[in-house]
Amino acid sequence: MSERTLVLVKPDGVSRGLVGEVISRIERKGLKLAALELRVVDRATAEQHYAEHDGKPFYNDLVEFITGGPLVAVVVEGARAISAFRQLAGGTDPVEKATPGTIRGDFGLEVQFNLVHGSDSPESAEREIKLWFPNL
Ligand code: CMP
Repeated sequence: MSERTLVLVKPDGVSRGLVGEVISRIERKGLKLAALELRVVDRATAEQHYAEHDGKPFYNDLVEFITGGPLVAVVVEGARAISAFRQLAGGTDPVEKATPGTIRGDFGLEVQFNLVHGSDSPESAEREIKLWFPNL
């Protein structure tokens, strides 16, 4: 059964020129692009997106960072798209958790600058897709 997930190529991924690399890995996996947009996100959207992290020590830096430059928001579609993309991304910590061969494992060094985001559950995916692409 096909499902959808929200992927972000975060500002560090865009500034490092890794958009093509990330999209290419998504497509080579067999997943499809249902929507894609380069945008600078406003603070309100960023705070809603990361609402579950509100109050954590890294929350303010995270919101500053994600609103600090253009990012690419993508709706990705396909069989088990949520876990398929999370496998492509690798663990949150690019050094300790993400293994080589994953996006974070191949290109990342720091937890905050971990290049990509992918929805972590069907409920998150639905919420995030509505937030980022309300007309989809
Ligand atoms: P993401 O998958 O977008 O979800 C939450 C984000 O918070 C995560 O990727 C990281 O970018 C960031 N994050 C998680 N833990 C930490 C941390 N300990 N320090 C800084 N940033 C973090």
